Amino acid sequence: QDNTYFFLCNGEWSASSQGKLLKEYSPCDAQVCYTYQSCSNENADRCFHAAATAQASWAKTPLWKRAEYLKKAAKILVNYKDEISQCIVNEIAKNTRSALSEVVRTADLIEYVAEQGIRQSGELMYPDSFPGHVRNQLCLVHRVALGVVLCIPPFNYPINLCASKVAPALMMGNSVVIKAPSHGVISCLYLASAFHMAGIPRGVVNVVTGKGSELGDYLVSHPLVDAISFTGGTSTGKKVSTKAGMIPLQLELGGKDCAIVLEDADLQSSIRSIVSGAFSYNGQRCTAVKIVYVMEQVAEDLVNGLKEQVQKLSVGYPQDNADITPLVSQSSAEYIEKLFQDAIQKGAKQVVPWKRKDNLVWPSILDHVNQHMRVAWEEPFGPLLPIVRVESETQAIEMVNKSDMGLQASIFSSNMERAMSIADLLQTGTVHLNGQPARGPDHFPFQGWKDSGIGSQGVLYSLQAMSKVKSIVVHFT
Ligand code: G3P
Repeated sequence: QDNTYFFLCNGEWSASSQGKLLKEYSPCDAQVCYTYQSCSNENADRCFHAAATAQASWAKTPLWKRAEYLKKAAKILVNYKDEISQCIVNEIAKNTRSALSEVVRTADLIEYVAEQGIRQSGELMYPDSFPGHVRNQLCLVHRVALGVVLCIPPFNYPINLCASKVAPALMMGNSVVIKAPSHGVISCLYLASAFHMAGIPRGVVNVVTGKGSELGDYLVSHPLVDAISFTGGTSTGKKVSTKAGMIPLQLELGGKDCAIVLEDADLQSSIRSIVSGAFSYNGQRCTAVKIVYVMEQVAEDLVNGLKEQVQKLSVGYPQDNADITPLVSQSSAEYIEKLFQDAIQKGAKQVVPWKRKDNLVWPSILDHVNQHMRVAWEEPFGPLLPIVRVESETQAIEMVNKSDMGLQASIFSSNMERAMSIADLLQTGTVHLNGQPARGPDHFPFQGWKDSGIGSQGVLYSLQAMSKVKSIVVHFT
């Protein structure tokens, strides 16, 4: 069948050993868009064995050659950008414009990883800088591969967040087994296909497909896994870290990114950033603005400005490049509605009328949110923006730091000194001053504190995370 896809194991497109297929339903129209393999544990075993075997010679492949494979894969992605972005649109209802930009951004990322990864150098250390030692040894420090890396990307960037794990892992000499997300599975296979078409040796890139609920535990606790790079929800991330045991983990989990708007902020520019930050891809981004803390003096103007801008957002289908498109699942829409209702029952005021049709949720703003409401703490991962009016910056800082999550934050103020001193106090991995939270550009460091994750991503940081330090000490006799 045309729309039936295979998984990639040891350089071959294979069918599930249990002969089971899964259907993927498009969030755009709830129709089956693709059919894919439900891999068994035995299929996963084959992938891990292939990866482990291939890794030994891949790590010995010269760096310039590894870089060439990556660059070739990046070119292939660009050549097929229309097909791949169409697939992203079908699978996760991201609008065509953003889907295309995801593919191009990914090709750029892979190229950048190749460029950065090729410029590796080590360190030489002598003992005599430490008290009581003389120059009778030479310590050679360099970085080596971890082995087989299990890459688990999320649905919201099935190409880009997959490549941000795979490319640094490959560049550092690791082989990978990718667990494709259930929404976005085919886009992920397209990415693997680009490496396959680039001629990467068999077994270096493998992809298993299937339900996370059936395969997940088996994969993360597999004895052949040497490291895991996971992006997804906090509760799943915590389970991964418990089951994985003592191996390196790179976890990028949930976020409750805030925008703190001070009374001296440029309101028009803050409004533009907050609307873009909260509603791009329907708020289905870890870095979406998920709560606003605004000083009482400017709250009314900010809320009115946000209302005006939000009402201009188009709602519809991704193929028409609508700003707001159907959410990835019906259950996401239901969850968001529950958060909305809980807040309304506890006294929040709706700024724009609530509207929902199945998994299409119109952009919504809640004013006068307080800390007794679920939406003040939980992550809607959808187009719902809560606003908390605060009397002081201290109150905002306290609330931000009270959150279990600590991914990113934004501060809007015309006083840089004041903004910097608040930034210092916020317990988040990144703070943006006068701009919306965002992961990119993809070479910037990206890290969540607290329940938002473990380790840093970003080109250089991921190259480091996908390798370990090895030292060789030469003793002079
Ligand atoms: O995992 C990060 C992703 O959800 C957000 O990425 O590039 O939209 O800030 P970005």
